[in-house]
Amino acid sequence: MKKIVIAIDGVSSTGKSTMAKDLAKEIGYTYIDTGAMYRAVTLYCIQHNLFKGDQIDEEKLQESMNDIHISLRFNPETGRPDTYLNGVKVEKEIRGMEVARWVSPVATLGFVRRALVAMQQEMGKEKGIIMDGRDIGTVVFPEAELKIYVTASPEVRAQRRLDELKAKGEAASFEEVLENVKTRDRIDSTRKESPLRQADDAVVLDNSHMTIAEQKAWLLVQYNKAA
Ligand code: C5P
Repeated sequence: MKKIVIAIDGVSSTGKSTMAKDLAKEIGYTYIDTGAMYRAVTLYCIQHNLFKGDQIDEEKLQESMNDIHISLRFNPETGRPDTYLNGVKVEKEIRGMEVARWVSPVATLGFVRRALVAMQQEMGKEKGIIMDGRDIGTVVFPEAELKIYVTASPEVRAQRRLDELKAKGEAASFEEVLENVKTRDRIDSTRKESPLRQADDAVVLDNSHMTIAEQKAWLLVQYNKAA
């Protein structure tokens, strides 16, 4: 079978990364979670006090871009990559609510997007990758052989996200998580720079009422058709 690029895009908290990670394991591909990269830049901003009120100090962030080194290293225990920011593992820190609140505004910034997109294109140039995010099939790999666009109702997504946070011992209310999911969808799909949108040639999956096993089986069928 030929090696291909699989681009998975869609709204927040649809379980894209679970699907992507499972398929990568099954077919021996590398899985790249691009949301983790935007989250790591956001964590850097929090650590360096680059948020003032509800504003980002864009000038300082732009000056700091050369000091932000992100790497994704495969963890055989979890079967997915761990995210490192300047050599420190930040997988737990980037998944919390504080980063979730700031990440979409950070991801609207053109200079942040250009830096991360260049890294992502480099990571995928040998193919044999599954990359998930918001602009993979439209901007990062417009020539990807398989493009999936995942969606589900906001309430289903908020509940899944809440269950995940609870499992990690982080307190949050359903209303707070639902609000965050809806706000991120709005910012991500209305921003000027590479907004979230379904690529014309993407296959759509609404997984509101699907189990993880059903999604996995569906994705494997799509892969077998495309590869
Ligand atoms: O996928 P995840 O929910 O972790 O992504 C966090 C945020 O990062 C998204 O809400 C979006 O603002 C941003 N993002 C992006 N482009 C990508 C991946 C993520 O703008 N390719």
